[in-house]
Amino acid sequence: MQDVADYMSQANKSAWEIEGLAEGTPLRDIKKVGVIGAGTMGGGISMNFATAGMPVKIVETKAEALERGLGVIQKNYQRSADRGRFPQEEVGARMARLEGTLDMEALADCDLVIEAVFEDMDLKKTIFTKLDEICKDGAILATNTSALNIDEIAAVTKRPQDVIGLHFFSPANVMKLLEIVRADETADDVVATSMDLAKKIGKIAALVGVCQGFVGNRILASRQLQAMDMVNRGVMPWDVDVAFNEFGFKMGPFQMSDLAGLDLGWKKGAKTASPIRDALCEMDRRGQKTGAGYYDYDENMQRTPSDVTAKVIAEVTGVEPGASSLSSQEIIEICIYPMINEAVKIMEENKAQRPSDVDVIWAYGYGWPGDKGGPMFYGDQVGADKILAKMQQLGADDSRFAPAALLEELAASGGKFTEINTGGLKTGNR
Ligand SMILES: NC(=O)c1ccc[n+]([C@@H]2O[C@H](COP(=O)([O-])OP(=O)(O)OC[C@H]3O[C@@H](n4cnc5c(N)ncnc54)[C@H](O)[C@@H]3O)[C@@H](O)[C@H]2O)c1
Repeated sequence: MQDVADYMSQANKSAWEIEGLAEGTPLRDIKKVGVIGAGTMGGGISMNFATAGMPVKIVETKAEALERGLGVIQKNYQRSADRGRFPQEEVGARMARLEGTLDMEALADCDLVIEAVFEDMDLKKTIFTKLDEICKDGAILATNTSALNIDEIAAVTKRPQDVIGLHFFSPANVMKLLEIVRADETADDVVATSMDLAKKIGKIAALVGVCQGFVGNRILASRQLQAMDMVNRGVMPWDVDVAFNEFGFKMGPFQMSDLAGLDLGWKKGAKTASPIRDALCEMDRRGQKTGAGYYDYDENMQRTPSDVTAKVIAEVTGVEPGASSLSSQEIIEICIYPMINEAVKIMEENKAQRPSDVDVIWAYGYGWPGDKGGPMFYGDQVGADKILAKMQQLGADDSRFAPAALLEELAASGGKFTEINTGGLKTGNR
């Protein structure tokens, strides 16, 4: 059996290689960076470049939002200096590289602009239309969208070859992963320059294609759907989380939701596919930020299973709390095998360059346990036949979980997930 440390070390190296890139592709010169939006992501993204010594212009719509964003950055830097990570003078030096503005025209001399405004297609299209008018020739125009179609965003510009996804993870100044999303028209030198920049700001990059949620969040969605489905059938959220914690994840699906906020993509009065979440949000149980979510929290943010949540689940589902119980092993199989199946579908669609990139993405973006590599490495430990048998069961109830054709092939041939050959990314113009 392959050693996990050797495998991941090789996976980290391979992730930097861009299949099919013309030799000697020149890099674009990136000296000045612009970031649009000084919220959760825009602030963290700006810090990466200021820390690496590059000047950054941050654009906001209102002075208060700009002040708040810059204030958060200052506090973050100060906290790190107080902990002895760098000398006090560095706080001032880094802050001096950041220039806030309410005027998008200020981005005219930037070599790279990263848009990090609300996740709203119309808003992003308006911004990219403006960037197309304002930015100098050859500037890279990037979006930090989590899931929107970057081809559609690129299409509003007259320079889709310069548009790319730079998908940072929260908190963006801390998380190592950067998913670099190649759209149909993205030019080779834009991809190569983005990979090079990722290295300069200390990230681990993986090149992926455009699809719903890209690679990381697409795989995550299959896990979250299964976890929620179990709760709808009477399994308690904390039982699901315990199974994940035992597997080695620091946070299970519901612990993660509480941290991220249950109201991500939710609006008051909304009736989504997840009525339990809707009910908790309506009660202002929106996660750690409101002091309660799936769990109750004390003043030190210590969580405990919640009777209120159990009652909400019973009311919404009509199922008695704990009416259904599954072993930790069953919970893991139901949640994790669909992730492996989804990763195989991603390979079939050529939205990742290689299986080990999926493992890099899950190790550095989502906390996949270090001793288990990533979904592809772990899949090989379990075996394609066992995963196929579970997917046949789950797929019979819900076609979204139907086994990938390639999973069936691997099971029949005794093939390995880590040896799937995608032949590189497939986009519209290649
Ligand atoms: N929060 C996450 O965990 C996360 C992770 C990865 C990607 N993303 C993506 O990053 C983007 C930003 O998310 P966020 O969590 O930082 O949101 P946020 O609400 O914290 O920040 C968005 C900021 O954009 C500003 N803004 C809105 N319209 C603007 C405009 N026209 N010009 C300038 N500024 C404008 C707002 O004032 C706000 O400060 C979204 O596309 C989101 O999907 C978020």
